[in-house]
Amino acid sequence: MSPRPVVVVTRRLPEPVHEALVGAFDARLNPDDRPLSADGLRAALATADALLTTVTDKVTAEVLAAEPRRARLVANFGVGFNNIDVEAAKARGIAVSNTPDVLTDATADLAMTLLLMVARRTGEGERHLRGGQWTGWRPTHMLGTHVTGKTLGLVGMGRIARAVAQRAHHGFGMKVIYHDPFPPPPEVAKALGAERRAELEELLREADFVSLHCPAMPETRHLMNRERFGQMRPEAFLVNTARGDVVDEAALVEALESKRIAGAGLDVFEKEPQVTQALTTMDNVVLLPHLGSATRETRVAMGLRAFENLQLFFAGKPLRDRVV
Ligand code: 8YV
Repeated sequence: MSPRPVVVVTRRLPEPVHEALVGAFDARLNPDDRPLSADGLRAALATADALLTTVTDKVTAEVLAAEPRRARLVANFGVGFNNIDVEAAKARGIAVSNTPDVLTDATADLAMTLLLMVARRTGEGERHLRGGQWTGWRPTHMLGTHVTGKTLGLVGMGRIARAVAQRAHHGFGMKVIYHDPFPPPPEVAKALGAERRAELEELLREADFVSLHCPAMPETRHLMNRERFGQMRPEAFLVNTARGDVVDEAALVEALESKRIAGAGLDVFEKEPQVTQALTTMDNVVLLPHLGSATRETRVAMGLRAFENLQLFFAGKPLRDRVV
């Protein structure tokens, strides 16, 4: 019997995923959940047949250049794979996979959570109450912004954006507009009540809420910059559940401080886990620690999807979610 493939699992994963991995592979788990350094990743590439990585692993061209190298697959846990230099992986004949689909609903739910939180000032309200400052109900206390009937602008119209459109339009009676250079078929957009805007600027000028759903890639780095915040309505809010570097965080702070925009709900940041200090002091900003896919069910499904990709790979079959 040939030895079982060695798989380095870079972070602690939900137990059912560990069980599946240990059942099929010589899985090197990380029960202490300590992130791997660049050297740790290089060692993993040298000693394992595959790596199961997460957003916290910076699989750079430099790391991938490690010699000698044994690994032939990097199975990323997550739909986003901007933590991996996929071109460098491709050049070295290393396959990369991700875990789409299974986190769509959880992430869309979180985008709606942020939208509602920032509109209705719920973070601020909770801090107020817990801080013992609540003196009682009054007609003008902590008034937020109405959501029903408002316009939601989706930047990107992939799986997660469509799930947000479904919730926002059919659940919250919002008007939905979107901008995507690769738009969905018209009938798909129609079923979601979503109207296309050919230019991002048109969307930004119209939307009461702008929610980001594009991948992080060189073309989308700092997509939301000073100029684009200048195109948003002063009463509009930004929601980001995509990736931190789609937003120029310094320009966002400036837009918030100068009241160019009304507020922001953020799940992702440019330099996670660091968050620009100024954001943490603003009451019109909701900050979450990258919780988009953080439900038990979803994290198990993501792990099992990565597991499936590993299994297919070692069975010599085409990967379900091959990125390169
Ligand atoms: C993951 C995410 O938790 O899938 C993604 O792209 O941002 C999150 O859902 C993270 O990527 C874990 O690797």
